[in-house]
Amino acid sequence: MIAPGKDEPVRVETIVVPDPGPGEAVVQVQACGVCHTDLHYKQGGINDEFPFLLGHEAAGVVEAVGDGVSDVAPGDFVILNWRAVCGQCRACRRGRPWYCFATHNATQKMTLLDGTELSPALGIGAFAEKTLVAAGQCTKVDPTVAPQVAGLLGCGVMAGIGAAINTGNVGRGDTVAVIGCGGVGDAAIAGSHLAGAAKIIAVDIDDRKLETARSMGATHTVNSRQTDPVEAIRELTGGFGADVVIEAVGRPETYKQAFYARDLAGTVVLVGVPTPEMKLELPLLDVFGRGGALKSSWYGDCLPSRDFPMLIDLHLQGRLDLGAFVTETIELTDVEKAFERMHHGDVLRSVVVL
Ligand code: APR
Ligand code: ZN
Ligand code: ZN
Repeated sequence: MIAPGKDEPVRVETIVVPDPGPGEAVVQVQACGVCHTDLHYKQGGINDEFPFLLGHEAAGVVEAVGDGVSDVAPGDFVILNWRAVCGQCRACRRGRPWYCFATHNATQKMTLLDGTELSPALGIGAFAEKTLVAAGQCTKVDPTVAPQVAGLLGCGVMAGIGAAINTGNVGRGDTVAVIGCGGVGDAAIAGSHLAGAAKIIAVDIDDRKLETARSMGATHTVNSRQTDPVEAIRELTGGFGADVVIEAVGRPETYKQAFYARDLAGTVVLVGVPTPEMKLELPLLDVFGRGGALKSSWYGDCLPSRDFPMLIDLHLQGRLDLGAFVTETIELTDVEKAFERMHHGDVLRSVVVL
């Protein structure tokens, strides 16, 4: 599925996928979720390197690998990730590969039939029957999982679960508040539930979202259009504030709520992505007067090779319901409709099944 130019409708085109070169793999895509980032690419909000090959939350089967690839082999069922870490940079060497600053993608280009080079969304481009990626973007998982469920871990759901279990380090008995209950916030709720949080307070401005949040494991809900969420969170946590507050909206007012809703020793995890012009003013005495930590979470600070197989196993054991994030499965030609539904907040995830 190609986005040919800024704000132009997406369309299906025949593409040419080269044989994998050294360190590359060609994957037969079986399922790929529709993410806000695909829409941002289409709108020209990320860069203007049109045409884009959209799609990046995907799972499929490795068809072929290039020279020097040993971690995956043809026939392996894999989830794709958009941060293939280098293993060499300072961040990687210091055991924080989620901050790797030399992540890589395939070096060869996929093209249209006339030779026009395609820019794959987040270096993946998986609204396609086949795609070319770096082998490090493929993580082998248990093949008995449904592909439409597996693919979700490639982006939004991993970002949310990871915000809770990796960045926030939510532990047994913790109180957690999640501000913004879209796909990412709901995944943070599911992650907190998985980690054994005692109380999970969901905050949103939409009652429909709060209802879904409850099904994901929220124990309390707060509609922040009707009730001051900071006061409500304090009240629900014995006056202290939550041990971990996860912000999954990306707006100044919700950043501020997250800042004030945490326990003095608590952690704020920022997952919502703000726009460049957004600013927040805080009294320095409040910054100084609060301990704990203020952290942002990138891609759930995940390590695909560690986290993807573990979360798929937990799903298969019935301990984490990843299937709850799939609102609908659709055909490749329905991506434009899925963008509409996403824009109106009607779906957690629409997943293209190929
Ligand atoms: N207070 C509380 N909730 C809000 C507010 C607000 N002021 N404004 C919006 N929301 C809620 C919406 O009602 C919705 O449920 O935040 C949720 C946002 O969900 P989605 O639009 O589905 O976005 P999602 O995919 O979950 O991503 C959330 O995380 O990774 C980032 O880029 C992503 O910034 C985005 C954020
Ligand atoms: Zn690195
Ligand atoms: Zn995404």
